[in-house]
Amino acid sequence: VLDPRAFLREKREGRTHAPEDLRAFISAHARGDIPDYQVSAWLMASFLNGLDESETDALTQALLHSGRVFDWKDLGRPSADKHSTGGVGDKVSLILAPLVASCGVLVPMVSGRGLGHTGGTLDKLESIPGFRTRLSPEAMRSQLDALGVVMVGQGPDLAPADGKLYALRDVTSTVERDYFIVPSIVSKKIAEGAGALAYDVKCGNGAFMTTPEAATRLARRLVRTSERLGARAAARVTDMNQPLGIAVGNALEVIESVEVLRGGGPADVRELTLELSAVMLRLAGAEPDHAVARGRASRALDSGAALECFGKMVEAQGGDRRAAEESRLAGAPLKVPVTAPVSGTLVGVDTFALGDLVVGIGGGRRSKEDLVDPRVGMRVLRRIGDRIRAGEPVAELHLASPDESALERTRRAFVIEDRACGAPELILASVESATDC
Ligand code: URA
Repeated sequence: VLDPRAFLREKREGRTHAPEDLRAFISAHARGDIPDYQVSAWLMASFLNGLDESETDALTQALLHSGRVFDWKDLGRPSADKHSTGGVGDKVSLILAPLVASCGVLVPMVSGRGLGHTGGTLDKLESIPGFRTRLSPEAMRSQLDALGVVMVGQGPDLAPADGKLYALRDVTSTVERDYFIVPSIVSKKIAEGAGALAYDVKCGNGAFMTTPEAATRLARRLVRTSERLGARAAARVTDMNQPLGIAVGNALEVIESVEVLRGGGPADVRELTLELSAVMLRLAGAEPDHAVARGRASRALDSGAALECFGKMVEAQGGDRRAAEESRLAGAPLKVPVTAPVSGTLVGVDTFALGDLVVGIGGGRRSKEDLVDPRVGMRVLRRIGDRIRAGEPVAELHLASPDESALERTRRAFVIEDRACGAPELILASVESATDC
């Protein structure tokens, strides 16, 4: 049996764990045989001294096998999923999951709630009246077989050791290390049984990774680790120096997603959805050529096929399909324009501040017990590079009650200067497979 004190000493002295010891340590913690305080000490020692590639793999395996690992091969179709590392206004999953399913690839999507200043797919889906994000494995299977798509929450049986470890990382300030983040994400994605994984690693002042170098390094590790566990994988590093699209906030983002599913909506949301959908279709083997895959994805939006699949999924999961499709979701009682104080070019947006503000006005949680108000949020009306005249609206706040400070903080998040500035690139880097790494 593993001696936890010897194991801790090993990492304290900067040595490398044997993979079987690391797996034994994590399994013992998941079973309750090693207390949180010893695991917390190990997390900090590892945060400071690092885990190498073999240790990262062993950690991923331990988290993955702590719970159930789904397998959809008997349904006879390829499967794929996408994971975003989190941003502001990122509603791509709501559009992409039914879109890819309408092209014949199964999408067993397990999503999360908002984390920090970022939004979460589950919270967005729950702004549709009646929508259930908890389904039994049997219900997931039969819906996947019938519709090709299911969008649910993690549940207690998927990588439960990650749930315990993540909660400790959160309170011991040991979140921001690739070798912790990669096992946490990849174990959950492999456990849900998708054969192909597209990662969207967000980069910028509204993301957890703020530099292209850090984001690309994370993207490579996500791809490499996923491939070693038997999934096909690729990643895009994408801009998060301004919110994606116009809508930020749960119901507002569902409404914008339906616009994109109808063939309209903001250009950046459509562009990123098509790119990531094409990656999934290609990795899943549905279409070998990226450009052809993009064309297929684009037709699924313009023909209404993706919208039809979305509507059926909403209905199957107990949601009010008509309300979602006709954008009749409850709106906030107050809509307040935020105007530019000066004329010039929009040269920057404090995306973190906007995401944090939407959480603060009720669109997310400050503590685990908080209730989310699906109605609140904002519409971001101008993009970086736009010319703006003083007094023109740059955003529209959707509030549950009057809030002068929210207005002022929103205004301050838009940086307007008297100089030219180009629009930023949306897709900053691509990682295609381990051979690129
Ligand atoms: N998301 C996760 O699921 N885990 C992490 O460690 C970070 C982001």
